[in-house]
Amino acid sequence: AAGNGAPSPSIGFKAIPVGTGDSVVVPEGYRVQTFIPWGTPISGSMPAFSLQASGEDQAHQVGSHHDGMHFFPLDGSSRDGLLVLNHEYVEPRFLHAAASGLALDSEGFPQREDGSRDADQVRKELNAHGVSVIRVRQGGDGQWQVVEDRYNRRITGLTPMRLAGPVAGTEHVMTKYSPDGSMIRGTLNNCAHGVTPWNTYLAAEENWSGYFANEDAEIDRRQARYGIATRAEGRYQWHRAEGGADEFVRFDATSRGDSPRDDYRNEPHAFGYMVEIDPFDPESTPVKRTHLGRFAHEGVIFAPAVEGQPVVCYSGDDARFEYIYKFVSARPYQAASADGSLLDEGTLYVARFNDDGSGEWLALAPGENGLTPENGFADLADILVNARSAADHVGATKMDRPEWGAVDPATGQVYFTLTNNTRRSEEQVDAANPRAENHFGHIIRWQEDGTHAAERFQWDIFLLAGDQESGRDLNGEPLDQDAILASPDGLWIDADRRVWIQTDISESVMNTGIHEVFGNNQMLVANPETGELRRFLTGPIGQEITGVVTTPDQRTMFVNVQHPGATTEAEAFAAGELTSHWPDGGNAIPRSATLVITREDGGIIGA
Ligand code: FEO
Ligand code: CA
Ligand code: CA
Ligand code: CA
Repeated sequence: AAGNGAPSPSIGFKAIPVGTGDSVVVPEGYRVQTFIPWGTPISGSMPAFSLQASGEDQAHQVGSHHDGMHFFPLDGSSRDGLLVLNHEYVEPRFLHAAASGLALDSEGFPQREDGSRDADQVRKELNAHGVSVIRVRQGGDGQWQVVEDRYNRRITGLTPMRLAGPVAGTEHVMTKYSPDGSMIRGTLNNCAHGVTPWNTYLAAEENWSGYFANEDAEIDRRQARYGIATRAEGRYQWHRAEGGADEFVRFDATSRGDSPRDDYRNEPHAFGYMVEIDPFDPESTPVKRTHLGRFAHEGVIFAPAVEGQPVVCYSGDDARFEYIYKFVSARPYQAASADGSLLDEGTLYVARFNDDGSGEWLALAPGENGLTPENGFADLADILVNARSAADHVGATKMDRPEWGAVDPATGQVYFTLTNNTRRSEEQVDAANPRAENHFGHIIRWQEDGTHAAERFQWDIFLLAGDQESGRDLNGEPLDQDAILASPDGLWIDADRRVWIQTDISESVMNTGIHEVFGNNQMLVANPETGELRRFLTGPIGQEITGVVTTPDQRTMFVNVQHPGATTEAEAFAAGELTSHWPDGGNAIPRSATLVITREDGGIIGA
């Protein structure tokens, strides 16, 4: 699949070696500033970072575990704008590093002897999740700073949000808090993101099922298909917060009352969506757009909007053997009036990748592809809440953990990372997922047959990640030492068509065994025409690199470092011997943070 003669991007830097140290390394001629680490004050009384910070303080500070991110320029500026970023989850050992006297459970959460949890610690954990909107500006010295500003805002696991689209107002989402099924509190596990053609931000809800307990003996597919089993505990035990506040108790999805309006049995049905946030309206209520489907949303990528044509966006469901989806709006895009309501009417599709290199989009809609009441799909809301089951039913292709997507601005080709899937057997191999025990992952891409709304496409494999023996580039050539990588995850294509690839080797295998050769997680750049691949950045110990965007002039790049030190530090933490102290150094606990990358000569990043 050639690129229609589109220009090849220049990639001008000298590749760096794999990294193993507790630092960030970039090519010669580049500079890195560490920016907005977890706990940086941004709003309210601007509470300074402190390990003793309260749950309420955390609501005015940058959250933890930075992930997907976008820079929204103010008045087109490349030196002044709103940086919006997700905070995927928390590391309790670090979040509560100053708390004493309580034993830690196996996940590192402080627990009281009676099994309850400290309510302020629970509040802090919920407020460390979500999204940050921060006005940032580049000073005369080239350094970027947080600007105290009315735009600055934290959206957290406690922020009231509206449900929109076909699931809103249905019995699936009626709760004690919202008997009419119109509202929900909070967004969780915000992994990657999307940017709409009307310049709003979408935060994905990925691994949300782990937050819920449910002691019901029978759990239906709305939860069972998403990983909720009968259990008294979730990872976080928020429902056990001392005092029994409703905003915490709701994480127990057990049926306790006479009707769904008496309890929180339906609470998990309001998670697993893309959440729209207008960063330019700090008073706005975030909106969960249910027509994009309910699953472990990694993120969403919009095709370039075309006046008079439908809006199209693509999403991955990041779990083993899950699917890639596409939404096509019913109403056409019109720049003058476009808004999020375009995402509330349309068709959700799921991808089938045929072994001959063709593919098709299968509609997940009432009456289509066997999605009928007789087959257990009552209506559109039922299909969307049970998107995974619907995709199973129509025979979509089970993928090796779909993560981020990106669209080539010149060719319209759509790229998706498939991070790994060690559970795929020889019998389960297909052309689109060609390796059994896929430890290292790959990148697939496709070209729609016509516009992005087309129902058929042609696909190929862009990259097989791996070491010098197992990795293959676009031309089928082995990867050289400057290009080896494993577990591609973050993905972004810049305006010049450089394909930025970020890795997330799991902390449980990083720097050991077959993964040792890759060192710490990293970011590389690929040329979509030639397949050339070159290492640009390596991160500190224990983290993943995730989230990347530049200013419009491409002279400043923002990149996130998530979970330095990671949870592999549990034993080291207990022994008082952390292996990562990034970014503060000394004996500090590690903190997720954003990197600001510029060139000494002020040039375009990557060129
Ligand atoms: Fe949050 Fe699939 O990465
Ligand atoms: Ca992550
Ligand atoms: Ca990811
Ligand atoms: Ca990942």
